[in-house]
Amino acid sequence: MLLAGVVEGEDAWQVWPEIVRTRTPEQVLAEVAASGLRGRGGAGFPVAAKWAAARSSPDTVVVANGDEGDPGSYADRLLMEADPGRVLEGLALACFACGGRRGVVLVRSEYPRALARMRIAVEQARAGGHLGRRIHGTDVDLDVEVVEGSGSYVAGEETALVAGLEGGRGCARPRPPYPTQRGLWDAPTVVNNVETLAAVPWIVACGGDIYAARGTLSESGTKLVCLSERFARPGCYEVELGTPVLRIVVELGGGLREGSDLTVLQVGGPLGGFLAADQLDVPLSEADLAGRGAALGHAGLVAFDQQVEPEEVLRHVWEFAAAESCGACSPCRVGSRRGLEIVRTGAPTGQEYARLLRVMGEASLCAFGRRVPAAVRSLARAYGERLAGWDQ
Ligand SMILES: Cc1cc2nc3c(=O)[nH]c(=O)nc-3n(C[C@H](O)[C@H](O)[C@H](O)COP(=O)(O)O)c2cc1C
Ligand code: SF4
Repeated sequence: MLLAGVVEGEDAWQVWPEIVRTRTPEQVLAEVAASGLRGRGGAGFPVAAKWAAARSSPDTVVVANGDEGDPGSYADRLLMEADPGRVLEGLALACFACGGRRGVVLVRSEYPRALARMRIAVEQARAGGHLGRRIHGTDVDLDVEVVEGSGSYVAGEETALVAGLEGGRGCARPRPPYPTQRGLWDAPTVVNNVETLAAVPWIVACGGDIYAARGTLSESGTKLVCLSERFARPGCYEVELGTPVLRIVVELGGGLREGSDLTVLQVGGPLGGFLAADQLDVPLSEADLAGRGAALGHAGLVAFDQQVEPEEVLRHVWEFAAAESCGACSPCRVGSRRGLEIVRTGAPTGQEYARLLRVMGEASLCAFGRRVPAAVRSLARAYGERLAGWDQ
């Protein structure tokens, strides 16, 4: 099996020593461009374009985002715990391609084992000559620091993450400037998800074209999907992008345990969306899911059965929004609290609710507030009759 593009069982650091000695940063960048790799952290931005935007300075920093806040996602935790060297090797290649000398791994505070393993892996990489001064006899210098996250959901958003690394509150700020222009301590900063970076060594070793042959035409490669505990076979699986969601649910997940029936499936975490059980014949890709009002996000799949009341799920989405809103902008700060008050009354909806969803979706500062309305609308659509009146 490939794990995020990596052959299972193969040790990390097989690719970097030769690449740093024999290739140029431009060649590494070109290989990643040919792969069509897009970010796996939720926004799906082309990786090579982001790297190219930050190549202006030797001060460029690359941050591996291991904050993984989506309830239902644990792919980054597994990668950091089970294969920390691979994450570091991808980070080293990213720094090399960007011309930067500094990498940072940000590990979610609730992941103490991942934090410890990443720290040990950095020590081992230094001892093996993969990090440090004059790496493998070249004039490349690179060091990596492992930092513990600040413990809120929004702190994983890239501008909030930069603020947190600078010691401030983990709140989002308007973009532009994008972190690639002005990020950590004003240096050009690339933020990439841990899973994104873990795919890079394979791409560089085997060729971008070969990676691009997997997946769909517009969304290449593979994705780790995490199935929640209601599945008969919960776990983290690697699939090609474009694999039908139904196949993932039935063939990999084995359906739900104890013969329960799936009623709705949450895809892509709180900023993703919901699919009805009869809507699963959709390819797992950002474009196809968007066509059904959902989003790929980090590809956590959380199953709900008939024992869970639709109103409970709706309330939970708003509770999450109200609890995790960072408060930096009023459409989301006020809207998420008011949305929760409205759904707690249990009496659907009216013009105020419709206006609230519209304003939050259009005027919120970051994707958190902008995506909540789409998520609650998709939930209402997925439950149909059972949530009649909430589909605004
Ligand atoms: C509210 C919010 C939370 C986020 N949390 C994470 C996270 O925990 N991990 C992550 O990789 N990206 C997260 N993102 C996306 C990042 O802002 C950013 O797009 C991503 O880290 C870039 O990496 P990629 O291009 O490799 O996907 C979050 C975005 C938002 C709006
Ligand atoms: S949308 Fe919400 S999470 Fe994002 S900046 Fe505004 S208040 Fe913070």
